[in-house]
Amino acid sequence: MSTDAPAVYPPSAEFAAQANTRGRELYNRADADRLGFWAEQARRLSWDTDFGDVLDWSDAPFAKWFVGGKLNVAYNCVDRHVEAGNGDRIAIHWVGEPGDSRDITYAQLKDEVSRAANYLAEIGLKPGDRVAIYMPMVPEALVAMLACARLGLTHSVVFGGFSAAALRSRIDDAQARVVITTDGQFRRGKPVPLKANVDEAVDALVDGKAAESVEKVIVVRRCSNDIDWHDRDVWWHDTVGAASPEHTPEAFDSEHPLFLLYTSGTTGKPKGIVHSSGGYLTQASYTHHYLFDHKAGTDVYWCTADIGWVTGHTYIVYGPLSNGATQVVYEGTPNSPTEHRHFEVIEKYGVSIYYIAPTLVRTFMKWGREIPDAHDLSSIRVLGSVGEPINPEAWRWYRDVIGGGTAPIVDTWWQTETGAAMVAPLPGTTACKPGSAMEPVPGISANIVDDDGNPEPRGEQGLLVLDQPWPAMLRGIWGDDERFRETYWSRYEKQGWYFAGDGARYDDDGALWVLGRVDDVMNISGHRISTAEVESALVGHSGVAEAAVVGASDATTGQAIAAFVILREGVDASDPEALIAEMKAHVSKDISPIARPREIIIVPELPKTRSGKIMRRLLRDVAEGRELGDTSTLVDPSVFENIRKQRA
Ligand code: WT7
Repeated sequence: MSTDAPAVYPPSAEFAAQANTRGRELYNRADADRLGFWAEQARRLSWDTDFGDVLDWSDAPFAKWFVGGKLNVAYNCVDRHVEAGNGDRIAIHWVGEPGDSRDITYAQLKDEVSRAANYLAEIGLKPGDRVAIYMPMVPEALVAMLACARLGLTHSVVFGGFSAAALRSRIDDAQARVVITTDGQFRRGKPVPLKANVDEAVDALVDGKAAESVEKVIVVRRCSNDIDWHDRDVWWHDTVGAASPEHTPEAFDSEHPLFLLYTSGTTGKPKGIVHSSGGYLTQASYTHHYLFDHKAGTDVYWCTADIGWVTGHTYIVYGPLSNGATQVVYEGTPNSPTEHRHFEVIEKYGVSIYYIAPTLVRTFMKWGREIPDAHDLSSIRVLGSVGEPINPEAWRWYRDVIGGGTAPIVDTWWQTETGAAMVAPLPGTTACKPGSAMEPVPGISANIVDDDGNPEPRGEQGLLVLDQPWPAMLRGIWGDDERFRETYWSRYEKQGWYFAGDGARYDDDGALWVLGRVDDVMNISGHRISTAEVESALVGHSGVAEAAVVGASDATTGQAIAAFVILREGVDASDPEALIAEMKAHVSKDISPIARPREIIIVPELPKTRSGKIMRRLLRDVAEGRELGDTSTLVDPSVFENIRKQRA
């Protein structure tokens, strides 16, 4: 990248003049009266019963937002647009991986959601019951989520790439009564079974028992692949398809749990993050409107996440639909059937707002600019980035090649726990620095502090904290209040701040730079995986006695998993490559292909401190091919010579 590239990128005068908010207007209003500002944002939604207090923080860290208010989330995302006369507007341009497509209007979406709600009510599901959704990116997945929301059922979407074992542990933890799935899913042109994983998950004996909470499995036909059939199984088209499209939504309390989403922590056991209705939807809707400068009826929005992650919840389902967006939903991978796929979709539908992860930008860079250059991408006017810090080189390429050299890039820092974007520029206001998420969103308060909670001076790295509650904040960890307090609130207990787990710094101009996780959580292509989870999968392999896992930097995926394993006594290691391949496959099957280590190194010993803690920092040095840092606290520094020999 040339050194004379600009250091900051302000919006064009033209963009600024048409933006949903001008200058610092939103910041000023939020600074003057933060809670009043959030009340205003909440009133962008339709409430059945108005709320009283904006925030009740008396039972901190358990927040209540928009106290006493009642609303129906699905009504806000669907019905009200139909009532406003926009029933014929396309809600979803759905693009299937094999090339099939469907356009769904808001009126059609309302019918579909109502049918699904009628069927789920008919089988006896009651507000607060949990429903697991394990599906690829088909329209029925969104319909299923909205039908749950409509009935006050708490959904738990499990990413379709997760294994049967991962699905089972999530079903058990939430005691899900119903699982909604598809017969199969397309992966690079081929149907692969999905329902078979549900069968395996539900029937597996865990402590001698199958998943007893599951009463029904509802199956959407997607691939027409062969599937086994059980008494508990029903077809979506026979049941939901036959239900009435008339359904009157009921209003639920603002604090009613809308969904659980499991995410990795620093231990092997995923946490069921609990999100609310009113506060969550308020911030999802508000941030989608202002951060993407979204204009309902003219923009065509495309967020390429999967509904299995929080980005899919907030910026495919609840944010855009609450704003009456027309959006593309794409089922497949970016290189199926060719590397032109995304650009063909942008061209065909006139996508104007495009929200992806930095790893995809870097993948596009690797494929070469002649691929996007072969397409008319002039419809694009706003670009988004999420999942990990975007390196300045990728930022500039993204803006030049995909954004025509003019589109603002909105780098959004947030987490499963925060529910919606927290730190990001406003596209019509902020002069962006490539690689910086810039500043807290209006209404959000964040700080960068040292271990004792003192603010770090500009230029110094510290820990990112959220020092005020926010509407979309998690309301807890499902069934584990203690873990909730301990994980997020114990580090700055005295101050009552939320510790995000990320390091960050303000630069000399006050721009905020997120530097990545400071805990044992890895970020692989924007997906969060804990080292402990992968270690636990590895020691589940019959050949492994001990394992240590680190995230090593990787040019495309941000981080990649490097594992160091000690073999059990007597394991036949005569063909180490085959053994390593077997271990990789084991992790892939146990967790998900995303968790598959890039490399596994068989070692005789692991570097440990005298207190028995594995020195991950040193392992990272090894995995990244660096000179070793300080080894003085090691019991036996010669361990490294052995590890290096194994790698050579
Ligand atoms: C972690 C949260 C938010 C949806 C996707 C990931 C990292 C996320 C950024 C960004 C720098 C980022 C953080 C965070 N992260 N977005 N724009 N810049 N880092 O959600 O799985 O809950 O992971 O992703 O480390 O803590 P998640």
